[in-house]
Amino acid sequence: MFVPGYFYTRVASFTSTIDQSLPVTYVARTMDQREAKIRSVFGTVTNAYDTHRPALCEAVVKTSGAILELGMGEGSTRALHSVAEEYGRIVHSYDHGLEWVSRYESLRSPNHEIAYVATWDDCPIESAEWSVAFVDHAPAERRRIDIARLAHRAQVIVVHDTESPIYGYDEILASFAHRLDYRAVSPWTTLVSNFVDVSRWTI
Ligand SMILES: C[S@@+](CC[C@H](N)C(=O)[O-])C[C@H]1O[C@@H](n2cnc3c(N)ncnc32)[C@H](O)[C@@H]1O
Repeated sequence: MFVPGYFYTRVASFTSTIDQSLPVTYVARTMDQREAKIRSVFGTVTNAYDTHRPALCEAVVKTSGAILELGMGEGSTRALHSVAEEYGRIVHSYDHGLEWVSRYESLRSPNHEIAYVATWDDCPIESAEWSVAFVDHAPAERRRIDIARLAHRAQVIVVHDTESPIYGYDEILASFAHRLDYRAVSPWTTLVSNFVDVSRWTI
């Protein structure tokens, strides 16, 4: 039986003591335990390429709903896959590099879409309302275009590499109602939103 106030997390190696009729096994976790588990999955920086992780993790734990990933790689895609599988969040990951899509194709599941886009214009950004959109794709000049597409359909947009002028971020990031710059580690990451006052968050 499910108990209100608890989240039920799929665990492959345990036998359910909660409800034997469930198709997979589950353990009950409180909100705090669930958040702690997500933070343990990807709340820390492991190298120069995944300095976005504390900010992305914060956006994930503070929201519910679908997550969009633009630009796949070891720093984000597997961590977001864990969030999809263990916590039932829908994650859509896109890349325009075939080799990067191939690398993560085995992660494709009912909760995690992994797809190639021939050009970023083909990326179905407008197909959903996103709780979190993570912007970390190439080429550099594409990022500000896709941030503009997301401005009124993502609750929180997590943008990597925001100290670098090559992305031309200034104008588009300044257009948002709310902003938080995470500069504890470089490259910097910026959270922007037209819906949530992210400036009040602590990362
Ligand atoms: C900045 S990377 C994206 C990194 C990814 N979001 C992460 O956190 O690991 C931008 C693009 O470069 C490609 N890429 C991913 N990982 C890479 C790597 N280790 N070296 C070179 N290119 C990479 C992919 O096409 C990706 O969309």
